[in-house]
Amino acid sequence: MPSDQTPLPPGFDAAATLLEWYAAMGVDVTLADAPLDRFEESAKAREAAESRAARRQAPAVPRGAAPAMAPALQGADVRPLSPQGQTAQVPTEATVMQAREAAQSAKTLDELKALIQAFDGCNLKLTAKNTVFADGNPAAKLMLIGEAPGRDEDIEGRPFVGRSGQLLDRMLHAIGYGRNENAYIANVIYWRPPGNRDPSDVEVAICRPFILRQIELVDPELIVFLGAQPAKALLGGDAIKQGINKLRGRWCELETGGKRFKALPTFHPAYLLRTPIKKREAWRDFLTAKVFLENGGMLPPT
Ligand code: URA
Repeated sequence: MPSDQTPLPPGFDAAATLLEWYAAMGVDVTLADAPLDRFEESAKAREAAESRAARRQAPAVPRGAAPAMAPALQGADVRPLSPQGQTAQVPTEATVMQAREAAQSAKTLDELKALIQAFDGCNLKLTAKNTVFADGNPAAKLMLIGEAPGRDEDIEGRPFVGRSGQLLDRMLHAIGYGRNENAYIANVIYWRPPGNRDPSDVEVAICRPFILRQIELVDPELIVFLGAQPAKALLGGDAIKQGINKLRGRWCELETGGKRFKALPTFHPAYLLRTPIKKREAWRDFLTAKVFLENGGMLPPT
């Protein structure tokens, strides 16, 4: 009779094989979406145990008398929980304000990069290996903005260096551009979300002032949004409700720092890897971008 405990071949390392399989499926971070403070959890458990033990030992308190502090807690550092009893630090509007002030104080891209690297208000930084600021030529007329770093970008500290980055390089090459010559690449989010999950609205709100300031400092002639997320995060308004199929190839304007920037959303290269039939439309968008840039920031009459 077949057994569900099939014997493993000699030398087969089941644990290592399982880990490799998880990594191949994208499960490469052993974390939940929200941070858990294990130190605070164990401190709470210890306090609860101490207080139970103290209650067992304490003499009965006469009705109406003030309770004496349990002997086990005398002199102990008894810290109250936060008002909501939360253990995780939840970013607030104050954190967004802090990001806004820091971003506005940057006078150069180097200053902005240093400020973002020193900024501790975004929880994503706790799990990321690197801050992923930008790549390419800061003097380029074309700025490409993606969503958030993935695994390869987190390891290298540069945006779009994995498979989707290689496709992006080929797309740029196809219109005669190169990332180090005439393109500047950044993301809305500067730290990899664990397990490549979607960034939360709060994470986007915290990073937004930084990427807006980055746009102001680069001052490109054209912004190409790679996918719906960067378009939605930065354009707001009607764009928020629309999918990338509606948004792509349509001229938009992004206003920041008192200036209006022309923007063109297109498909994200990762989507194109999964849906190659859409490459034709992305190709048209890249050609439109090239014609616009090489025609002095104007579209030639059709
Ligand atoms: N996807 C993005 O949106 N950005 C990167 O840097 C890499 C993949």
